[in-house]
Amino acid sequence: MPDTVQHINATTTAPEPLDVAAIRGDFPILSQTVYGKPLIFLDSAASAQKPSAVIEAEKDLYEQYYANIHRGVYKFSQDATEAYEQTRETVRAFINAQRSRECIFVRGATEGINLVAQTWGRQNIGEGDEIILSELEHHSNIVPWQMLAEEKGASIKVIPLLDDGSVDMDVFAELLNERTKLVAVAHISNSIGTHLPVEDIVRMAHAAGAKVLIDGCQAAPHCPIDVQALDVDFYAFSAHKVYGPTGIGVLYGKEDLLDAMPPWQGGGDMISTVTFATTTYNHLPPKFEAGTPNIAGGIAFRHALDYVSAIGFDRIAAHEADLRDYATSQLEGSNSVRLIGTAKGKGAIISFVMQEAHPHDIGTILDRLGIAVRAGHHCAQPVMDRFEIPGTVRASFGIYNDRNDVDSLIEGLKKVVDIFG
Ligand code: ALA
Repeated sequence: MPDTVQHINATTTAPEPLDVAAIRGDFPILSQTVYGKPLIFLDSAASAQKPSAVIEAEKDLYEQYYANIHRGVYKFSQDATEAYEQTRETVRAFINAQRSRECIFVRGATEGINLVAQTWGRQNIGEGDEIILSELEHHSNIVPWQMLAEEKGASIKVIPLLDDGSVDMDVFAELLNERTKLVAVAHISNSIGTHLPVEDIVRMAHAAGAKVLIDGCQAAPHCPIDVQALDVDFYAFSAHKVYGPTGIGVLYGKEDLLDAMPPWQGGGDMISTVTFATTTYNHLPPKFEAGTPNIAGGIAFRHALDYVSAIGFDRIAAHEADLRDYATSQLEGSNSVRLIGTAKGKGAIISFVMQEAHPHDIGTILDRLGIAVRAGHHCAQPVMDRFEIPGTVRASFGIYNDRNDVDSLIEGLKKVVDIFG
């Protein structure tokens, strides 16, 4: 068969639809009722629910082989260490890093970004240097850089948003110059769902001699990540948004950068030798992993990554795009609703305001109907300022949502109009 025909076949075959009923069966919490109503969970962007495999992995550890890791010569310690390090290898494959030692376990993306700011940043950013962020960043990808800039006399430059919530790449090109040391942007916006053109951002930043950090929190549950293809310098994400446990996440860094960075927190595991005269530091990754880590979370994290990988991101992306488009088509004709963030190809996040009511009031009415959404500024106040709104109602979708959940949301919003309209 000629190549072209094979290509057409490959790109026109729709991925097999998700079996949402079966997936929902894997998430015990989804059978709960709230105020006597079935739970409609539309807040996965804040934190996703957990499948039984993740819950069982933590339970199994505590019941069957719990011990501290990296320290014991006895069986349970070695078994727990092996399980924990297996997750690191799973993470490596999940983001296609070259080596597992480039994957540092942190408490979450926030800690990963702070780690880079306070080690690589302190070492490489000085007076007069510039850090470029986008206007849609989460506070956790703004404040660490502001703290660093203040300490070092550097400045923050901001890529503005266009009216549809996409980043203005023309202004980005103008902002880049020889003083730019770092570009730190989200892969997908947590507040309005914009999917940033990270390939272009990395290429342009590198051409200007800057390093790039990507906050991948909202991308990791929804699309494949390939840090080598992206050629990104640092990439951070949290397990709890990928259906995994809280209190564990990943900071990926290129090995040469991580090697050259000073350690951050001091303590056990991150040292080679300690005397009162001098201390030498461990190799990667323990160099950045001081103290007893989140052992149970680390072990269970693998089961979350295995779970989504087994479903496959082509199927997940197609399913969530359908929910996004279905919800958008229901809302965009409404006189009461103003969608915030309509960029093409955005993630499975619907953010909106209504003229009848404040987002918090809408969130409260929906809650009484068993519908969980997030309402407020979503830790992205500059986005709210950009659109001159106090906050939004945000419905964010995951693998366990279906069109019925969207219908319930739309019904709930009709009640809002009945009450406030
Ligand atoms: N960053 C999380 C959110 O967007 C907490 O809701």
